[in-house]
Amino acid sequence: MSTNTVDNKKKVTTATLAAMKARGEKIAMITAYDYTMATLVDRGGIDMILVGDSAANVMAGYKTTLPITLDQMIYHASCVVRGVQRAFVVCDMPFGSYQGNPDHALASAVRILKESGAEAVKLEGGKEVLASVEAIVRAGIPVMGHLGLTPQSINQFGTYGVRAKEEAEAEKLISDALMLEKAGCFSLVLEKIPADLARRVTEAVKIPVIGIGAGPGTDGQVLVLQDMLGMNDGFAPKFLRRYASLGTAISDAIGAYVSDVRTSAFPSASECY
Ligand code: KIV
Repeated sequence: MSTNTVDNKKKVTTATLAAMKARGEKIAMITAYDYTMATLVDRGGIDMILVGDSAANVMAGYKTTLPITLDQMIYHASCVVRGVQRAFVVCDMPFGSYQGNPDHALASAVRILKESGAEAVKLEGGKEVLASVEAIVRAGIPVMGHLGLTPQSINQFGTYGVRAKEEAEAEKLISDALMLEKAGCFSLVLEKIPADLARRVTEAVKIPVIGIGAGPGTDGQVLVLQDMLGMNDGFAPKFLRRYASLGTAISDAIGAYVSDVRTSAFPSASECY
């Protein structure tokens, strides 16, 4: 019998996630952007669903996450929320919806919760966005921070390479993590940083830390759904583990359907009224 004390039916809340960290239980998070996939990942027992702005890449085909709009994020999040019974749903705040000033950030976060039913928002950055984090938290909205590789800053970074390899950037990241915790963030994502640094941050804060490309020392892991299901062959970073080959399975199924239609093997007598 499993010694895991996670209740697989009870709705996950920020309190559930805090208790999981306190007990040393790992948190499983995945992205989703639509109703059907959300029902499947929720049924699979996932703890947290991130409606990531990676929707710009995997759903819309953009090269970066920058073009996706607040309205589009709200649409994706509302589709996901309708498919979920247990998981805690977090929606990314898109580029341009929170960096300007705290009032604008708060208005964007309120729209996300009101119009989509998501339970929390995630935003990228540390000290630079602290006032926005504080304004959103003050309104009773749970905020997840995101440090390390922050894809909305791709034009400043110039690459999607590993971040904080140098001590100065690592020190800033630790200081940002502590500031975000103090500002009231309920959780943090650390993306593509050295495993030792991710472990240091995880031990330094009391809130749950979720990693992607950040090694095993964090309180949980997150992957992009389409990547881990093998639907995106062109994307193969070192940290990505593929749990299925759905890309091939789907193309093969479509190929079989095309062939059946062309040869009139579909529909058969039993498939007619
Ligand atoms: O948008 C996203 O999918 C994310 C994850 C990579 C953490 O922010």
